[in-house]
Amino acid sequence: MAYVKVSEVLQLAIKANTAVMAFNCIDYSTVRSVITVAEEVNKPVICMLYPEHVIKYNWINLEGFVSMVKTEAEKVKVPVAVHLDHCSDFDFIIRAIKAGFLSVMYDGSLLPLEENIRNTREVTRVAHAFGADVEAELGHVGFASTLTDQSDVDKYTKPEIAALFCEQSKCDSVAVAIGSAHGFYKETPKLDLVRLEEIDRATDVPLVLHGGSGIPNDQLEIAFTKGINKFNVGTEFLWLYYQTVRNYDGTDIAGLANTVQKKLMEYLREKMKLSKF
Ligand code: 13P
Repeated sequence: MAYVKVSEVLQLAIKANTAVMAFNCIDYSTVRSVITVAEEVNKPVICMLYPEHVIKYNWINLEGFVSMVKTEAEKVKVPVAVHLDHCSDFDFIIRAIKAGFLSVMYDGSLLPLEENIRNTREVTRVAHAFGADVEAELGHVGFASTLTDQSDVDKYTKPEIAALFCEQSKCDSVAVAIGSAHGFYKETPKLDLVRLEEIDRATDVPLVLHGGSGIPNDQLEIAFTKGINKFNVGTEFLWLYYQTVRNYDGTDIAGLANTVQKKLMEYLREKMKLSKF
Protein backbone atom coordinates (compact mmCIF):
# COMPACT_ATOMS: atom_id res chain seq x y z
CA MET A 1 0.00 0.00 0.00
CA ALA A 2 1.71 3.16 -1.19
CA TYR A 3 -0.98 5.79 -1.27
CA VAL A 4 0.47 8.78 0.61
CA LYS A 5 0.10 12.54 1.02
CA VAL A 6 1.98 14.99 -1.18
CA SER A 7 3.74 16.35 1.93
CA GLU A 8 5.22 12.88 2.52
CA VAL A 9 6.71 12.61 -0.96
CA LEU A 10 7.97 16.18 -0.69
CA GLN A 11 9.85 15.22 2.48
CA LEU A 12 11.44 12.33 0.57
CA ALA A 13 12.40 14.75 -2.21
CA ILE A 14 13.99 17.14 0.32
CA LYS A 15 15.99 14.29 1.81
CA ALA A 16 17.20 13.16 -1.62
CA ASN A 17 17.80 16.76 -2.72
CA THR A 18 15.70 16.30 -5.83
CA ALA A 19 12.21 16.85 -7.19
CA VAL A 20 9.30 14.46 -7.31
CA MET A 21 7.61 14.41 -10.71
CA ALA A 22 3.95 15.44 -10.84
CA PHE A 23 1.98 14.67 -13.99
CA ASN A 24 -1.36 16.11 -15.12
CA CYS A 25 -3.54 13.05 -15.65
CA ILE A 26 -6.91 12.83 -17.33
CA ASP A 27 -8.04 9.21 -17.22
CA TYR A 28 -7.15 5.63 -16.43
CA SER A 29 -4.52 5.32 -19.16
CA THR A 30 -2.60 8.33 -17.85
CA VAL A 31 -2.90 7.35 -14.17
CA ARG A 32 -1.98 3.73 -14.81
CA SER A 33 1.00 4.64 -16.98
CA VAL A 34 2.36 7.09 -14.39
CA ILE A 35 2.03 4.66 -11.48
CA THR A 36 3.32 1.64 -13.44
CA VAL A 37 6.47 3.50 -14.52
CA ALA A 38 7.02 4.98 -11.04
CA GLU A 39 7.03 1.43 -9.66
CA GLU A 40 9.32 0.23 -12.44
CA VAL A 41 11.91 2.99 -11.80
CA ASN A 42 11.32 2.83 -8.04
CA LYS A 43 10.56 6.53 -7.51
CA PRO A 44 7.69 8.39 -5.83
CA VAL A 45 5.25 10.21 -8.08
CA ILE A 46 2.22 12.53 -7.98
CA CYS A 47 -0.92 12.30 -10.16
CA MET A 48 -2.60 15.69 -10.60
CA LEU A 49 -6.02 16.68 -11.84
CA TYR A 50 -6.91 20.02 -13.46
CA PRO A 51 -10.17 21.39 -11.95
CA GLU A 52 -11.34 22.54 -15.39
CA HIS A 53 -11.41 18.92 -16.52
CA VAL A 54 -14.20 18.46 -13.99
CA ILE A 55 -15.84 21.91 -14.02
CA LYS A 56 -15.69 22.78 -17.71
CA TYR A 57 -15.48 19.45 -19.52
CA ASN A 58 -17.06 17.19 -16.92
CA TRP A 59 -15.57 13.97 -18.30
CA ILE A 60 -14.37 12.79 -14.92
CA ASN A 61 -15.47 13.42 -11.34
CA LEU A 62 -13.38 14.14 -8.28
CA GLU A 63 -14.24 10.95 -6.39
CA GLY A 64 -13.61 8.82 -9.49
CA PHE A 65 -10.17 10.32 -10.00
CA VAL A 66 -9.12 9.87 -6.37
CA SER A 67 -10.30 6.27 -6.21
CA MET A 68 -8.56 5.44 -9.49
CA VAL A 69 -5.23 6.79 -8.18
CA LYS A 70 -5.74 5.13 -4.81
CA THR A 71 -6.59 1.74 -6.31
CA GLU A 72 -3.52 1.76 -8.56
CA ALA A 73 -1.31 3.15 -5.78
CA GLU A 74 -2.28 0.37 -3.42
CA LYS A 75 -0.89 -2.19 -5.88
CA VAL A 76 2.64 -0.74 -5.83
CA LYS A 77 5.42 -0.20 -3.30
CA VAL A 78 6.54 3.29 -4.33
CA PRO A 79 4.78 6.27 -2.70
CA VAL A 80 2.03 7.74 -4.88
CA ALA A 81 0.09 10.92 -4.07
CA VAL A 82 -2.87 12.73 -5.57
CA HIS A 83 -3.11 16.50 -6.01
CA LEU A 84 -5.65 19.03 -7.31
CA ASP A 85 -3.76 21.43 -9.59
CA HIS A 86 -4.40 25.19 -10.11
CA CYS A 87 -7.62 26.18 -8.41
CA SER A 88 -8.79 29.64 -7.38
CA ASP A 89 -12.28 28.59 -6.36
CA PHE A 90 -12.57 28.11 -2.60
CA ASP A 91 -15.79 26.06 -2.79
CA PHE A 92 -14.34 23.71 -5.40
CA ILE A 93 -11.25 23.17 -3.26
CA ILE A 94 -13.47 22.15 -0.34
CA ARG A 95 -15.41 19.82 -2.65
CA ALA A 96 -12.13 18.25 -3.77
CA ILE A 97 -10.92 17.77 -0.20
CA LYS A 98 -14.24 16.19 0.76
CA ALA A 99 -13.92 13.93 -2.29
CA GLY A 100 -10.59 12.68 -0.92
CA PHE A 101 -7.91 14.97 -2.35
CA LEU A 102 -5.23 15.15 0.32
CA SER A 103 -3.43 17.95 -1.48
CA VAL A 104 -4.74 21.00 -3.34
CA MET A 105 -3.27 24.04 -4.99
CA TYR A 106 -4.79 27.41 -4.25
CA ASP A 107 -3.69 29.73 -7.04
CA GLY A 108 -4.00 33.37 -6.02
CA SER A 109 -1.07 34.41 -8.17
CA LEU A 110 -3.01 37.01 -10.16
CA LEU A 111 -4.27 38.75 -7.02
CA PRO A 112 -2.55 41.57 -5.15
CA LEU A 113 -0.13 40.16 -2.56
CA GLU A 114 -2.29 40.91 0.49
CA GLU A 115 -5.30 39.20 -1.08
CA ASN A 116 -3.23 36.20 -2.18
CA ILE A 117 -1.96 35.83 1.40
CA ARG A 118 -5.44 36.25 2.90
CA ASN A 119 -7.11 33.77 0.56
CA THR A 120 -4.31 31.21 0.81
CA ARG A 121 -4.48 31.49 4.59
CA GLU A 122 -8.20 30.82 4.52
CA VAL A 123 -7.69 27.76 2.31
CA THR A 124 -4.87 26.41 4.51
CA ARG A 125 -6.96 26.93 7.65
CA VAL A 126 -9.75 24.75 6.31
CA ALA A 127 -7.55 22.28 4.39
CA HIS A 128 -5.36 21.63 7.41
CA ALA A 129 -8.43 20.97 9.53
CA PHE A 130 -9.27 18.18 7.06
CA GLY A 131 -5.65 16.96 7.04
CA ALA A 132 -4.96 18.18 3.50
CA ASP A 133 -1.86 20.00 2.19
CA VAL A 134 -1.91 23.29 0.30
CA GLU A 135 0.38 24.44 -2.50
CA ALA A 136 0.31 28.22 -3.05
CA GLU A 137 1.73 30.36 -5.82
CA LEU A 138 3.79 33.51 -5.39
CA GLY A 139 4.65 35.54 -8.46
CA HIS A 140 2.80 34.36 -11.54
CA VAL A 141 3.64 31.46 -13.84
CA GLY A 142 1.75 32.38 -17.01
CA PHE A 143 1.49 30.90 -20.48
CA ALA A 144 4.35 30.18 -22.84
CA SER A 145 2.17 31.18 -25.79
CA THR A 146 2.39 34.85 -24.75
CA LEU A 147 6.20 34.77 -24.83
CA THR A 148 6.25 37.69 -22.39
CA ASP A 149 4.94 35.69 -19.39
CA GLN A 150 8.14 33.68 -19.14
CA SER A 151 10.46 36.67 -19.54
CA ASP A 152 8.59 39.36 -17.59
CA VAL A 153 10.66 39.74 -14.42
CA ASP A 154 7.81 41.70 -12.79
CA LYS A 155 5.86 38.43 -12.68
CA TYR A 156 8.73 36.50 -11.08
CA THR A 157 8.67 35.53 -7.41
CA LYS A 158 10.38 38.14 -5.26
CA PRO A 159 12.74 36.48 -2.78
CA GLU A 160 12.35 39.38 -0.36
CA ILE A 161 8.64 38.71 0.15
CA ALA A 162 8.74 34.91 -0.10
CA ALA A 163 9.43 34.37 3.61
CA LEU A 164 6.59 36.64 4.70
CA PHE A 165 4.21 35.01 2.19
CA CYS A 166 4.94 31.48 3.38
CA GLU A 167 4.86 32.43 7.03
CA GLN A 168 1.55 34.28 6.84
CA SER A 169 -0.25 32.04 4.35
CA LYS A 170 0.85 28.87 6.20
CA CYS A 171 1.20 27.09 2.83
CA ASP A 172 2.86 23.68 2.75
CA SER A 173 4.67 24.32 -0.53
CA VAL A 174 4.91 27.20 -2.96
CA ALA A 175 5.02 27.41 -6.75
CA VAL A 176 7.63 29.89 -7.88
CA ALA A 177 7.89 32.02 -11.02
CA ILE A 178 11.50 31.94 -12.19
CA GLY A 179 11.19 31.90 -16.00
CA SER A 180 8.95 28.95 -16.79
CA ALA A 181 5.44 29.07 -18.26
CA HIS A 182 2.63 26.67 -19.09
CA GLY A 183 2.26 25.11 -22.53
CA PHE A 184 4.74 24.67 -25.38
CA TYR A 185 7.57 27.20 -25.34
CA LYS A 186 8.13 29.37 -28.40
CA GLU A 187 11.49 30.36 -27.03
CA THR A 188 13.68 28.11 -24.88
CA PRO A 189 13.16 29.16 -21.27
CA LYS A 190 16.07 30.31 -19.18
CA LEU A 191 15.39 29.71 -15.51
CA ASP A 192 16.59 32.37 -13.09
CA LEU A 193 18.58 29.98 -10.91
CA VAL A 194 20.14 32.73 -8.81
CA ARG A 195 16.66 33.93 -7.87
CA LEU A 196 15.69 30.34 -7.10
CA GLU A 197 18.60 30.04 -4.68
CA GLU A 198 17.56 33.28 -2.99
CA ILE A 199 13.95 32.13 -2.64
CA ASP A 200 15.11 28.80 -1.28
CA ARG A 201 17.33 30.51 1.29
CA ALA A 202 14.47 32.79 2.36
CA THR A 203 11.85 30.04 2.82
CA ASP A 204 11.53 26.74 4.57
CA VAL A 205 8.81 25.11 2.48
CA PRO A 206 9.38 22.91 -0.60
CA LEU A 207 9.37 24.85 -3.89
CA VAL A 208 7.39 23.81 -6.95
CA LEU A 209 8.29 24.38 -10.60
CA HIS A 210 5.39 24.63 -13.05
CA GLY A 211 5.49 24.65 -16.84
CA GLY A 212 7.65 21.55 -17.07
CA SER A 213 7.22 20.78 -20.79
CA GLY A 214 10.30 21.87 -22.69
CA ILE A 215 12.67 23.20 -20.05
CA PRO A 216 16.17 21.95 -20.95
CA ASN A 217 17.33 19.08 -18.75
CA ASP A 218 20.59 20.76 -17.73
CA GLN A 219 18.62 23.63 -16.18
CA LEU A 220 16.25 21.22 -14.44
CA GLU A 221 19.10 19.21 -12.98
CA ILE A 222 20.43 22.36 -11.32
CA ALA A 223 16.98 23.60 -10.24
CA PHE A 224 16.26 20.25 -8.56
CA THR A 225 19.32 20.66 -6.34
CA LYS A 226 18.50 24.26 -5.50
CA GLY A 227 15.14 23.92 -3.80
CA ILE A 228 12.70 22.61 -6.43
CA ASN A 229 11.13 19.54 -4.83
CA LYS A 230 8.05 19.13 -7.05
CA PHE A 231 8.09 19.38 -10.82
CA ASN A 232 4.83 19.72 -12.78
CA VAL A 233 4.49 18.34 -16.29
CA GLY A 234 1.33 18.35 -18.39
CA THR A 235 1.44 19.64 -21.95
CA GLU A 236 4.01 17.32 -23.54
CA PHE A 237 2.57 14.27 -21.75
CA LEU A 238 -1.01 14.96 -22.83
CA TRP A 239 0.07 16.03 -26.32
CA LEU A 240 1.79 12.68 -26.76
CA TYR A 241 -1.49 11.00 -25.79
CA TYR A 242 -3.39 13.05 -28.35
CA GLN A 243 -0.86 12.43 -31.14
CA THR A 244 -0.88 8.70 -30.41
CA VAL A 245 -4.66 8.56 -30.75
CA ARG A 246 -4.55 10.59 -33.96
CA ASN A 247 -1.92 8.38 -35.53
CA TYR A 248 -3.50 5.09 -34.48
CA ASP A 249 -4.43 3.08 -37.53
CA GLY A 250 -5.73 -0.06 -35.83
CA THR A 251 -9.38 -0.97 -35.69
CA ASP A 252 -9.98 -2.04 -32.09
CA ILE A 253 -10.34 0.08 -28.95
CA ALA A 254 -8.31 -2.30 -26.76
CA GLY A 255 -5.42 -1.94 -29.16
CA LEU A 256 -5.75 1.83 -28.97
CA ALA A 257 -5.63 1.93 -25.14
CA ASN A 258 -2.68 -0.43 -25.23
CA THR A 259 -0.81 1.68 -27.77
CA VAL A 260 -1.48 4.87 -25.78
CA GLN A 261 -0.21 3.35 -22.53
CA LYS A 262 2.92 1.96 -24.22
CA LYS A 263 3.78 5.36 -25.70
CA LEU A 264 3.11 7.21 -22.45
CA MET A 265 5.23 4.74 -20.51
CA GLU A 266 8.17 5.15 -22.92
CA TYR A 267 7.98 8.90 -22.39
CA LEU A 268 7.63 8.58 -18.60
CA ARG A 269 10.64 6.24 -18.31
CA GLU A 270 12.80 8.88 -19.93
CA LYS A 271 11.29 11.88 -18.09
CA MET A 272 11.51 10.27 -14.66
CA LYS A 273 15.30 9.92 -15.03
CA LEU A 274 15.40 13.58 -13.98
CA SER A 275 14.06 12.70 -10.56
CA LYS A 276 17.18 11.52 -8.70
CA PHE A 277 15.79 9.27 -5.98
P1 13P B 1 3.04 22.19 -18.68
O1 13P B 1 1.67 21.86 -19.14
O2 13P B 1 3.61 23.39 -19.38
O3 13P B 1 3.95 21.01 -18.73
O4 13P B 1 2.92 22.63 -17.15
C1 13P B 1 2.23 21.80 -16.27
C2 13P B 1 1.95 22.51 -15.01
O5 13P B 1 2.70 23.35 -14.56
C3 13P B 1 0.73 22.12 -14.29
O6 13P B 1 0.54 22.86 -13.15
